[in-house]
Amino acid sequence: MPASSLETIVSLCKRRGFVFPSSSVYGGLSSTWDYGPLGVELKNNVKRAWWKRVVHEREDMEGLDAAILMNRLVWKYSGHEATFSDPMMDCRACKTRPRADHVFAAQKGRDPKGIAEINAAIDAKELSCPKCGSKDLTQARPFNLMFKTSVGPVDLGDDSGLVYMRPETAQGIFVNFGNVLDTMRRKLPFGIAQIGKAFRNEITPGNFTFRTREFEQMEIEYFVRPGEDEAAHEMWIAERKNWYLGLGMNPDNLRVREQEKHELAHYAKRCVDLEYRFPMGWSELEGIANRTDFDLKSHSRSPENPDAVGELKYFDQEQKKHLVPYVIEPSAGADRATLAFLCDAYEDALVKEPPAEETARLRELVESFARSVGRREGMAADVKQRLVSSAESIAAGLPGTLPQLIGLMEDSEAATIEVMKKVRGVGEKIAEEHTRTVLHLHPRLAPVTVAVFPLKRNDARLVEMARGLKRDLQKSGIRAVYDDTGAIGKLYRRQDEIGTPWCITVDFQSLDDQTVTVRDRDSMAQDRVKATELGNTFATRLA
Ligand code: GAP
Repeated sequence: MPASSLETIVSLCKRRGFVFPSSSVYGGLSSTWDYGPLGVELKNNVKRAWWKRVVHEREDMEGLDAAILMNRLVWKYSGHEATFSDPMMDCRACKTRPRADHVFAAQKGRDPKGIAEINAAIDAKELSCPKCGSKDLTQARPFNLMFKTSVGPVDLGDDSGLVYMRPETAQGIFVNFGNVLDTMRRKLPFGIAQIGKAFRNEITPGNFTFRTREFEQMEIEYFVRPGEDEAAHEMWIAERKNWYLGLGMNPDNLRVREQEKHELAHYAKRCVDLEYRFPMGWSELEGIANRTDFDLKSHSRSPENPDAVGELKYFDQEQKKHLVPYVIEPSAGADRATLAFLCDAYEDALVKEPPAEETARLRELVESFARSVGRREGMAADVKQRLVSSAESIAAGLPGTLPQLIGLMEDSEAATIEVMKKVRGVGEKIAEEHTRTVLHLHPRLAPVTVAVFPLKRNDARLVEMARGLKRDLQKSGIRAVYDDTGAIGKLYRRQDEIGTPWCITVDFQSLDDQTVTVRDRDSMAQDRVKATELGNTFATRLA
């Protein structure tokens, strides 16, 4: 069963060292996360796979790593200073600050034409606070999403040292267009790729690492002759979709969605979103926009931009004239892609049936939980209905529904029901012995590729051979770890839970014939392989 809720993924991430709440020793900082030892490996693998595919394996791409802090004028002429904002209003009654355009759209059934129309509706008392229903609302004001900081040793309290933390990596690419063109002697079409941090003071961050204020983007700006932009756009939509699928993403969980006219950013002629079916619903994974010649023109010297030192244009040898290229921009989030791969890979599976009396005891408790929820006062009707129907179907299907019970045991609403403590007391033990959690990550993404165990940790010969194998694999570029901190079955389960595709066990036969068992995470099949062939075997499987 795949992850039914984001809570299941959050819990695994915390338990197994993928992602921790940031600055937790001081109570944390809302919606900020730190990637732990396994998370950093996973996210690095996602970024590496992206770079390999879009830079190294193509003939028409170059890489870049631009600075986060840039001249403020970049953000003036990109349009971010004026337009990168959300309209907010305050509710004087309950002191919340909702997004005014969202409230307008929800209550009037269409998007507002601008802030003036929102404010007219507020004045006419046509809008109400989505939290408390009051119509005592302030006027909507634009709230810019760019984080400000200042350069230099002294903050003089004015704007003289003001710079922004970049809200997208894209502008670093546009302002380097001329540098890359000149130094790399590129001809159109060609693209520039960049991976890096971006910062947005999001009003409503949330859903774990899906929307945060500090995140990493993987962006491409692909420059083409005007007129060749639409074909290039189609090429990138197919290419980017295939990248996710090639790394094992379930095609049923990935879709292409055309943005409607009113959704388009000010610079875009067309934009297509790749959406993933996250536990909270279909949501944007990557946007692929046709930005036309908007950005290169904006950063070129003109009557509208007297600050630029020159023009960002291209001399077309074929046409013997200068032109301003059009740009196709596939813009992905490294954190979002990592989260999507995690959700997609997650599975709780029953591996063996528990004894009938244990199942009967658990069934009784889950039924009792369903009855308690039914009697509970003050619980929202939709939550009640969800918990009751899920508990009833789990109880009816046990032991086959043990994986679903794991999800219910991690549900924060379910935890508020007293009898859930008893369900967990019995259920967790049965689940521990009879189910396994597996991350079916693509081998190229898995934080650890191979784990090596000695059958017995108190036998020096087994330990020495296992440690030697680990070292040899690591030398040949395969991420390997050694572990002897439990019985083999337990070690397999631990590696399954973090997505390690292969485990090697060194046993007594290994000492005689130099073969080891290689256990496959997904099929759980075990093969005997010559120790000398391990490096080649895994390198071939990873290629
Ligand atoms: N240069 C175009 C651009 O930045 P965007 O749709 O705002 O477009 C591109 O962002 C991608 O960056 C999104 O599809 C998403 O994957 C990621 N992203 C944007 N805001 C994010 C946030 N607050 N937290 C995590 N990822 C975010």
